[in-house]
Amino acid sequence: MKKKILIMGIETSCDETAVSIIQDNGTKPPKILANIISSQEEVHKKFGGVVPELAARSHLEKIEIITKKALKKSKVKLKDLNAISATAGPGLVVCLSIGFNFAKSLALALKKPLIAVNHLEGHALSPMFQQKINFPYLLLLISGGHTQYLIVKGLGKYQRIGTTIDDALGEAFDKTAKLLGLGFPGGPKIENFALNGNPNKYDLPKPIFNKGGCNLSFAGLKTAILRLKDTIKTKQDKCDLAASFQQTILEIIKKKTIIAIDEYKKNNKSNILVVAGGVSANKQIRKTIDQLCEEKNMKPIFPNIDLCTDNAAMIAIVGLKKYKKKDFSKLSFNVKPRWPLDPKAKFMKGAGVIL
Ligand code: KG4
Ligand code: ZN
Repeated sequence: MKKKILIMGIETSCDETAVSIIQDNGTKPPKILANIISSQEEVHKKFGGVVPELAARSHLEKIEIITKKALKKSKVKLKDLNAISATAGPGLVVCLSIGFNFAKSLALALKKPLIAVNHLEGHALSPMFQQKINFPYLLLLISGGHTQYLIVKGLGKYQRIGTTIDDALGEAFDKTAKLLGLGFPGGPKIENFALNGNPNKYDLPKPIFNKGGCNLSFAGLKTAILRLKDTIKTKQDKCDLAASFQQTILEIIKKKTIIAIDEYKKNNKSNILVVAGGVSANKQIRKTIDQLCEEKNMKPIFPNIDLCTDNAAMIAIVGLKKYKKKDFSKLSFNVKPRWPLDPKAKFMKGAGVIL
């Protein structure tokens, strides 16, 4: 029998303080023994977005309590852990530093390996708790800070084939919800309001729909909604605009994902499409992806709903894979606000981007 491995994961890159402990027995997908998340929704709600200083202070207040909860829930003792992994980027430096420095202290005190994890790689591997997924696969990463198509060739090996040239998809949901006064975080609010709305009422722009390969753009949508804002008077108007916004997103995602699949298939035989990140919790997006995968002969895989938005289990699973490769980090490792999965990919944001 293989020896079991116990990994702690710590996540504080944005507005969730999270600690998880996972166990690997060799063959089956690893088991989540504890996955404790403390959301700061209440802290940031009145600002309609994350305030870094407040987020950092909240992480500082919570990190020890959440760690203790995770240990209690998992019935694991600190001394039995094999390694401490923590998000080291990308994200807000003030927030990342709290979790990563906490991980460093634990690793030093316990004399256990420290493993720096890229938050985006956590999202990329998050469905691996449900099933074994072999590399390579196509990944659509849709979160609050990132929107990219990547070919995942292996652990730490990514080729970006498409990206947003302005706002991330989650950001577009959040900004639209803020403009409509629906609350924060915006994604789930838009999804709910859209349930009672007419998706064909408003004709919204689809920037770079017919150019730029599988690159995406969402900033024009926000501008269009800003212009319409004064005409939105009733709750029904809000539902209709939320539904029209979501419908536009679905059309963009469908078109761009088909392009990404064609690009991916040029050099890859495997037919797996993983869709991960906070926005992958959206049911209509899941439905659209399911349908287009059927047309394109691809197998869609989504993380469990509770593993779509930020959590520490996804950090621990990257920690586990790195642990098996003895890919440990030095205590001098610094957090990285920018940490692209594909370091060779061209910077594609702002004015002057050539598609
Ligand atoms: O992955 P995540 O938790 O954090 C980042 O790494 O950014 O993603 C958060 C984003 C937010 O923008 C949130 O509005 C969006 O995911 N989101 C959703 C849904 N649930 C969360 N967007 C659309 N529909 C949802 N159901
Ligand atoms: Zn995330």
